[in-house]
Amino acid sequence: MKLRAKRMTRDLFEIHVPVYVARAALSVQGFRMRFADRAFVVTGGSRGIGRGIVKRLVEEGARAAIIDTDVHAGRDAEEEYGDRVRFWRADISREPDVRKTLTAIVKWARRLDGLVNNAGIADPEVGPVDKLALATWQRFLDVNLTGAFLMTKHAVRHLAKTRGSIINISSTRALQSEPDTIAYAATKGGLVALTHALAVSLGPEVRVNCVSPGWIATSEYLPRDKRHPPELSKADHEQHPAGRVGTPEDIAGLCAYLLSEEAGFVTGANFTADGGMTRKMIYA
Ligand SMILES: NC(=O)c1ccc[n+]([C@@H]2O[C@H](COP(=O)([O-])OP(=O)(O)OC[C@H]3O[C@@H](n4cnc5c(N)ncnc54)[C@H](O)[C@@H]3O)[C@@H](O)[C@H]2O)c1
Repeated sequence: MKLRAKRMTRDLFEIHVPVYVARAALSVQGFRMRFADRAFVVTGGSRGIGRGIVKRLVEEGARAAIIDTDVHAGRDAEEEYGDRVRFWRADISREPDVRKTLTAIVKWARRLDGLVNNAGIADPEVGPVDKLALATWQRFLDVNLTGAFLMTKHAVRHLAKTRGSIINISSTRALQSEPDTIAYAATKGGLVALTHALAVSLGPEVRVNCVSPGWIATSEYLPRDKRHPPELSKADHEQHPAGRVGTPEDIAGLCAYLLSEEAGFVTGANFTADGGMTRKMIYA
């Protein structure tokens, strides 16, 4: 009897414990690898916020295609993150570039689960409106807004097949401004509107959301030979209700959620990630 009980305990241990350990390991891995077999495109993924998004997606098992004009940074990202990352040089404001590049990407990845429209002219200051050249205004519109439209136009049939999703990277400058930033602000406001217009047009097959970052320090997401710690003062950090300036990881985590199945009920929304700055009332 004693022997039988002992054997039963041993059997229980030998059978059940490894199953529990394996299950626990799988659930940890399951979270970390929620994008195994998935493929994403990140425009402007060579450096800055886009590179942070690429890194996060790859860490969670995905393949990521970068579309960018910065060849040095794009090649460096391919080398740093391994063969699940591929770089394509293309200008998102040119329709032939976009069409050709997306065809090549789908041939490489054999599917498309998500598109992050992140590329942009990220330097907002253009001077006073009465001195602003039409060509400058037009270039902001072409890259920051038309680029997202063109990418969506040519990606949507692939995304519909996988019930994929799109994220447009806007900015808190869609909602508030510093002086002399009119072209940038107009394009970012346009992206917020483009998001809800696309969400109601493309659902239920494709979800479309917008992420509006505040101040994000990107110097640690440059190519490896140009990388340096951010030069930020105590005041830079402390003015934020969250107590610090943002990082590409902050935006990448939010994007990973929105691209995942956990966000299946979320579409047409704009998520502000700014450490609380747009909620802060200032009477200087
Ligand atoms: N960094 C911030 O504080 C901040 C805040 C709010 C919003 N954003 C937005 O986030 C996005 C990324 O910003 P970032 O700070 O990482 O800037 P960044 O300049 O480091 O990255 C932008 C990337 O887009 C690429 N790009 C520019 N024009 C292109 C084109 N025509 N075709 C293809 N690629 C092109 C650039 O080569 C670069 O790799 C931008 O849309 C920016 O407006 C940034």
